Amino acid sequence: MSHLTDLPSPFRVEVLPEASSTNRLVADRARDGEPEGLVLVTEHQTAGRGRLDRVWVTPPRAAVTGSFLLRPPVDTVPSERWPMLPLLTAVAVEEAVVAAGGPPVELKWPNDVLHDGLKFAGILLERVETPTGPAAVVGIGLNVSTTREELPVPTAASLVTAGMVDPDRTAVLRELVLALARRYAGWSRAADDSGLLAAYRDRCATVGRRVRVDLPSGEVLEGAAVGVADDGALLVEDRDRVVPVHAGDVVHVRT
Ligand code: BTN
Repeated sequence: MSHLTDLPSPFRVEVLPEASSTNRLVADRARDGEPEGLVLVTEHQTAGRGRLDRVWVTPPRAAVTGSFLLRPPVDTVPSERWPMLPLLTAVAVEEAVVAAGGPPVELKWPNDVLHDGLKFAGILLERVETPTGPAAVVGIGLNVSTTREELPVPTAASLVTAGMVDPDRTAVLRELVLALARRYAGWSRAADDSGLLAAYRDRCATVGRRVRVDLPSGEVLEGAAVGVADDGALLVEDRDRVVPVHAGDVVHVRT
């Protein structure tokens, strides 16, 4: 992967040949005072982390694997707006894939990126307390040229298995930085989340589906996903009540 230049300020990309977890390394750099805008990318991640304490495995040089450091301005982005960051990142991944000439994309709430029901990109957002205030580490793993045999599970995909011919990882990374920079600038300057929510709702394939949700409490909720609330929660209709889901593992149930 080549180094990228001409990126919008403050974004800058560093590429490491090998790294344990880019989320972990960016969190360490944030605690050491790194300013906003670092994008740390690796050709080979050896201890990748996923959501819900899962592992994230990709073969060397087959994916865009990296983490962004953001320090949302406290005056316009109070903590209550932070739950929008995973949704913002999912929208940016969709926009980047489309701009790079990739396949049609669906978003599964909150931030899985799918093609034809199969997941080709995942997002892990972590909040880190640092001496200069809280920082967000936005980790993205986007399978680019992984073959079907190399994918860890049958429900996974890559841009290649989704039909894209000869994708260029550097070009995908460039589109990702541009899309995330643009969405982040718009959102962090806005007084509210309405613009971002409209973009997310347009792309969210979960709404209108029957879903099963494993809640952090251990409970399982099954019902129809009827919307995304103004705070980003998934609204699930279960018999005669609508339950806002703020966290959990969602499966689209085939009907
Ligand atoms: C998920 O479970 O869907 C989220 C996967 C996130 C993986 C990315 S790869 C780059 C960054 N570094 C990590 O250790 N994880 C994230």
